Order: sequence, then C-alpha cells, then structure tokens
Amino acid sequence: LEAVFATGALAGLQVLVTAGPTREPLDPVRYLSNRSSGKMGYAVARAAREAGARVTLVTGPTALAVPEGVEAVRVETAQEMLEAVMARVGTADVFVAAAAVADYRAASVETHKIKKQAEHLSLALERNPDILATVAALPGGPFTVGFAAETQDLERHARTKLMKKGLDLIAANDVSNGQGFDVDENALTLLWPGGGTTLERQPKERLARQLVTVIAQRMGEANS
Ligand code: CTP
Ligand code: CA
Repeated sequence: LEAVFATGALAGLQVLVTAGPTREPLDPVRYLSNRSSGKMGYAVARAAREAGARVTLVTGPTALAVPEGVEAVRVETAQEMLEAVMARVGTADVFVAAAAVADYRAASVETHKIKKQAEHLSLALERNPDILATVAALPGGPFTVGFAAETQDLERHARTKLMKKGLDLIAANDVSNGQGFDVDENALTLLWPGGGTTLERQPKERLARQLVTVIAQRMGEANS
C-alpha cells in the first residue's frame, strides 16, 4: 500500500497537524472551549496522507473519526497539545496548526465544583502558550502553516500573524456571520511572504487537498 503513496506531492514527508478545540478546565465538571469541530484539521490530515505523507494528528476533543492511515494523539488542554507537539515536531517536515487553541486558561483550577453564590462571578484567566509561534521559532524547524480566524480585516490581520509568528504560510478564514466554524464548507485566503492566493468556498475536504498542493509547491519554491 505504501507504493500508492510513494508518488504524491508530499511523498516521504512527515506531517504534524493540530486540530479541534482545546478544553481548559475551571473545576472538575466545567471547562472553557470554543465552537471548533475539527473538520478542517482532520481534512488536512487526510489530504496530507493521500498526498503520500506520514501524518500525525494531535487533536483536541472532536466527534470525528480519525482518517485512515493517520496516527492520532488525543489531548484536552493547550498545555497538553504543546507537549504532544514538541515531543513529535523534531522529525516533522511540515507543521499545520489547524487547532482552535484556547488563548487563555483559568489562572487556578478549582479542586471542587464552584458553588453558585453572588450575582456576579469573575474568572481570572492567564495566557496559554502559542503552539504555532513556538514551533515556528525552532531553529531548523519544519515548514510551518498557520490558520487565522478573523471577523474583520482578514488579509491585514492574517499577514500580521504570518510575519509576527515567522510562518511560511497562513490560511485565513472569515469567521464572521457563523462562517468557518463547525460547518462543512469554507473559503481560504492563503498568504506567504511576498505572495498569496485565494481558494473559493467549497467543501473542507476539497479545500484541504488544494491547501496541501500549495504547501508542496511552496516547499518546492523554498528548496529551489
Ligand atoms: N495557535 C496556536 N496556539 C495558540 C493560539 C493559536 O498554535 N495558543 C495557532 C492556531 O492553531 C492558528 C494560529 O495560531 O493556526 C492563529 O490562531 P488565531 O486564534 O487566529 O490567532 P492568535 O495568534 O491566537 O491571535 P488572536 O486570537 O488574538 O486573533
Ligand atoms: Ca486565538
């Protein structure tokens, strides 16, 4: 079966993908999270596998089946996702951060269930590590691909993320009006230093295959 994969655009390469939301516990029965379904990340993992790569998917909690031939590592928190990624990124040629990582976690997790008391309750939060920026900063690290979910000024915000995090490619998607999150179709604006292209609205499975094609092209450019 490996022979089938030997000819794809990513043949022989190792691809590490993050997907899904993270869950940040508040107490034993509650957590902070977001609406990510994991569909885009799982579609990227499947497309990379179909393109001949060996694929590891580090995934937050989702309702999705792991694509055939893909190795899955299940995590809950951003911290666990970072650790799972750092343990595997050394051998990766490509890193795709499709996870919707919670930017903040509870400053302290309560041991017991938080009881209802006053009319108002404030939660103290602290920043989670940025997994994508951490990987992008590794000397001799993989080709890094980020996603940018924006509700306004899509290109400007995405290009800022591309440069600030030092990425090779960013896939920007408009999440205003319920687009992008927990739906089967999406459109992507792909940006890289000095260029870009748009992938029109279509099923995430097809979008992922096009993204993989562009990743392979960009890696080829970088090596030529
Ligand atoms: N990301 C990550 N680790 C985090 C936060 C984000 O790896 N702690 C990755 C996401 O997987 C995505 C990219 O960074 O590929 C951008 O995520 P996004 O939420 O759009 O941007 P942020 O940098 O978190 O900035 P903000 O939420 O303020 O727009
Ligand atoms: Ca964020």
